[in-house]
Amino acid sequence: MSQQKQFRAIKGTRDILPPDSSLWNWFERQARETFESYSFRDIRTPIFEDTDLFARSVGTDTDIVSKEMYTFSASSEAASHDGEQMSLRPEGTASVCRAYIEHGMHTLPGNLKLYYSGPMFRRERPQKGRYRQFYQMGAEVLGPSDAPGIDAEVIEMLVVLFRRVGLEKITLYVNSIGCKECRPKYVELLRVELRNAKDQLGPDSQRRIETNPLRVLDSKLPEEQVIIERLPRISDHLCEACRAHFAKLKDELALRDIAYEENWRLVRGLDYYTRTTFEVTAAGLGSQNAVCGGGRYDGLVELLGGPPTKGIGFAIGADRAILSIQESGKLPHLPGLAVFVAWMGLKAYPTAVAMARKLRERGLIVELPAEEMKFKKSLGLADKLGAKYALIIGEDEVASGTYTLKRLSDANQQKLAEPELLEYLESERRGL
Ligand code: HAM
Repeated sequence: MSQQKQFRAIKGTRDILPPDSSLWNWFERQARETFESYSFRDIRTPIFEDTDLFARSVGTDTDIVSKEMYTFSASSEAASHDGEQMSLRPEGTASVCRAYIEHGMHTLPGNLKLYYSGPMFRRERPQKGRYRQFYQMGAEVLGPSDAPGIDAEVIEMLVVLFRRVGLEKITLYVNSIGCKECRPKYVELLRVELRNAKDQLGPDSQRRIETNPLRVLDSKLPEEQVIIERLPRISDHLCEACRAHFAKLKDELALRDIAYEENWRLVRGLDYYTRTTFEVTAAGLGSQNAVCGGGRYDGLVELLGGPPTKGIGFAIGADRAILSIQESGKLPHLPGLAVFVAWMGLKAYPTAVAMARKLRERGLIVELPAEEMKFKKSLGLADKLGAKYALIIGEDEVASGTYTLKRLSDANQQKLAEPELLEYLESERRGL
């Protein structure tokens, strides 16, 4: 007999099951509420786009575009796209900028503040905190102004969220990588210095001397660290405007009491950045400890065919943020099953159905067995499901109009008429 194939989630992808999914929902809720309190609004873009969109914005020489994208051909039915390549989105910024241009959002007043949440796809080597389908919650500010106060407010929002969800031992790193005026000169200087040290570098860095010397600064190879530490630093080569922007950003962070570390090697793995870059690391994550990355990308909208626009944003790796919260062991109190309706006798069933609905309308989580169960079995199941209370409804209870409410933790019982019962459980709701 041939063996049935056992299907499993594809390498680098995973199922998020209860109770973890409750923690995910909670985290996403905290993020949405925080972002909305800063006047950001939700944007939902497709999970696949024209491959060129990512190539042009993230950069053809980046690891993301050159090695990690899931790319496929448009179907022949989509005549207008025939022959074009599409990719699952590896990140969200490019799509937000594409939507900004497509919908003429530059005509909206002020700077536009958008946030998004959803799966991203990169064909990376899976390990703890690194998946091929992972989830980001990101925020972007697009519009006419590049005031450093915007950068600082975006960073403040992030710090406020991380504090709210109890992320531990977070460190914020900031840097400025200059603009199209000063960075090319610095990159050239770096290239010259790196060529001199070429023999001491590994193959990846050797290749990057020509393709993207800035990325050498990202190297974690122990043998390259001495060389990198001796390289010229961008902070000494910023133009006057970038230097002033970075200085003002640091003032704005101080004004907000936000602790940070300057890290001149924080260049980020995407090509669209200008000036401000930042990253946040958290505890409990091992080598993949960046829970968030972001920065300024003035000029990206123009590069994609839109009007001159400034931009800044970040994306939180939700998988990593949640992993860090789990590793800390300090989980939030999340509402669980409050009431198990233990009904017995077919005459009790209509009352049980009505009571379950009334409790649910009052915000309680209620389980109602669809089939009659023996009393002992019913209470046993209530216990196994972790219910706080069992509401016992038998034919006698229906006749008398009073119901027995049993607290399962200590078997404490009280008999209550419907109005008192509903009132009591509603008042208990917050603690359940
Ligand atoms: P990124 O640094 O490539 O930036 O990704 C942001 C965050 O996504 C990372 O810090 C990490 O937490 C998470 N992440 C990235 N790759 C993986 C993976 N394979 N598995 C799990 N988590 C991952 C961006 O994507 C930019 N679009 C951020 C941005 C928005 N910059 C400006 N606006």
